[in-house]
Order: sequence, then C-alpha cells, then structure tokens
Amino acid sequence: MTISVEEHPSVGSETTNKLQDVALTTNHVSSILHYLTPNQCRLWSRVSACHSPATASPDFARIYTEAFRQITSQWLQPQCSLVALGPGGGSKEKRLLEELAAAGVQTDLGVVDAGMTLATQTLELCAPLCGSSHGIACDVAETDFLINWIARHGLKQPRLWTAFGLFPNSEPPALARQLATLCSPGDTLLCSANLGGSARECGGLIESHILAQYDNPETSEWLMEWVRESGLAPVVDPPEFEVVEEGTWAEVRAISRRRDTDAKLLLFRSTRFSAAGFRALMQGAGFTLLGEWTTPCLQEGVWLLRRVA
Ligand SMILES: C[S@@+](CC[C@H](N)C(=O)[O-])C[C@H]1O[C@@H](n2cnc3c(N)ncnc32)[C@H](O)[C@@H]1O
Repeated sequence: MTISVEEHPSVGSETTNKLQDVALTTNHVSSILHYLTPNQCRLWSRVSACHSPATASPDFARIYTEAFRQITSQWLQPQCSLVALGPGGGSKEKRLLEELAAAGVQTDLGVVDAGMTLATQTLELCAPLCGSSHGIACDVAETDFLINWIARHGLKQPRLWTAFGLFPNSEPPALARQLATLCSPGDTLLCSANLGGSARECGGLIESHILAQYDNPETSEWLMEWVRESGLAPVVDPPEFEVVEEGTWAEVRAISRRRDTDAKLLLFRSTRFSAAGFRALMQGAGFTLLGEWTTPCLQEGVWLLRRVA
C-alpha cells in the first residue's frame, strides 16, 4: 500500500522559519515546532514511553475503550468518515477503527497533523483498516482549507472527528472554536484532555503526581531538539518547569533562559483542565455532551460531543 501525505503551507518551511523568527522575537515557541522532524517525533515517543501515566495504569486505556464502544454502538450507518486531528502516531485512532470494523462499519479516513512524519505514521498504521485514506500535514487552525480538503476527498457527513491530546498544546478557546467550525451540525467529536488543572477539584495533584511527567531528562531532550536544530543551543539553556493557574485550567510551562538577551523563553506549555472547565468550554463553543469518562486518578478525560445546529 502506497502512503502519500500532502503538505499545506501552514507547516511548510517558509511558515516554520517565520514561526522560529516569531519565537525569538516574542520569546514564545509555537508547540507545532516540537513535532516536525523525525528526530523530534522519536524523542517525543520516548517521552510518552517513559513518562505517560497510561503505561502504569489500565484506567487510561479503559476510558478510551468505553468511549469507543459507546460511539460504535450508537453509529447507525454502515459507513463512517473519520477525521483524525493531531493523531500523533495514531494508536488511539487504530483502536477506534478496530471497534468500528468489529461492528461492521466501513470507515474512510482523513488524517490531519502538523507533522508530516506523524501524519505518515498514522496513515501507515490505520490505512489497512479503512476503505479510503488521505493525509495532510496542516495546522488545524486552517479551518476553511480543511473543510474543502475533507469534502474533496469524499469524506461525507455525518462525520466522526477525533482530537486526542490536541488541547494541551493549544489556546483552548481558539481550538474549541476551530473544532466547532470544522464540525458540521450532526457531526460527532471525540476528544481528550489532560486533567488535574483545578486546585479546587484536585488540589496539589500537579505538584505531587503530574509535574514529574514533564520535569525529566527525556522531556528536556525532546524540547531542546528544536533548540539544537535551530542552531540556538549556544544561547538557550535547558528548560525549568513551573505551574501557572489560568482560571479554569493550569499550565505546566517549560521555561529556558536565553543567554544572548537574558530573557525567559517559553519553550513549551501544556494545559491541564478541570473536568467541569473542559465541559463548559466545549458546551460554550456549540457542542452538546453525549458522554464523559475520566480516570479515577483525575488526570485524563475523554468527551463524546455532538455539534448542535
Ligand atoms: C500531545 S500530541 C497527542 C498525540 C495523540 N493524539 C495522542 O493522544 O497521543 C499532539 C499532537 O497534535 C499535533 N499538533 C499540535 N498542534 C497542532 C496543530 N496546530 N495542528 C495540527 N496538529 C497539531 C502534534 O503534531 C501531535 O501529533
């Protein structure tokens, strides 16, 4: 099977060079810049293998399985168009496709990830389970383009969308609006978010259990790969990690010192929600809630949502 992935200019070299200039002017690195090259993807996979709480607790896989079974049991058509946004290596989408196939649903797939390497990995993993499959390296913020791209590839409504692990790297209200624009009325969205971000719901959890998932040599090595590849290693120190409360969510921030300007460089940030805060965000963006699953340790949640007219 030949896999080919298109590239949109939003993640092409001209744009990523501009994002790099912006990063150095504003001292804020776009998360997209950490998922682009094969080396970055390899180092990011190593972070997941070494530090994802999902490797130690079956609860993380269970909440996805329960969500997949609910959507599959409610899917009444014999055909499904699945659009995977930010799938990483695509392992969660593969499990969803297996559930759909077991229920006799034939699925056509569209894959959208900022990184060409990750979009290709997802297609390689998932295409054998699908009727047709198409991939593009593109920023999800390119909603008008993506709506046309999806239609051009025959991914018909009602569609099923996945957005797993995309919220931690984004501006939450902006991403919620983009998802509401991408989804047509009647479409279904499955998304997940990292939890632990409400001091009231889970006070102290970030410091006691979550910070170590970021503050470790593997994460530092991954984030510093962008610094090395950009030729900035002589002037940028490895990051230190801090937690900042932002209303209904908290951010874990990786901050490096720039030795050339003595400024603080925000190398990476990861948003942690409260379950109630995430629900309110998505309902405010025009989605109705069909299901919610959270791990007992309150670190991750999965939501099944429908776009209302
Ligand atoms: C934290 S990883 C999550 C991967 C996978 N879905 C999972 O749950 O393990 C975030 C993924 O979103 C992609 N991504 C981040 N920002 C993006 C953007 N603006 N547009 C498209 N993809 C993006 C990254 O390339 C990466 O594959």
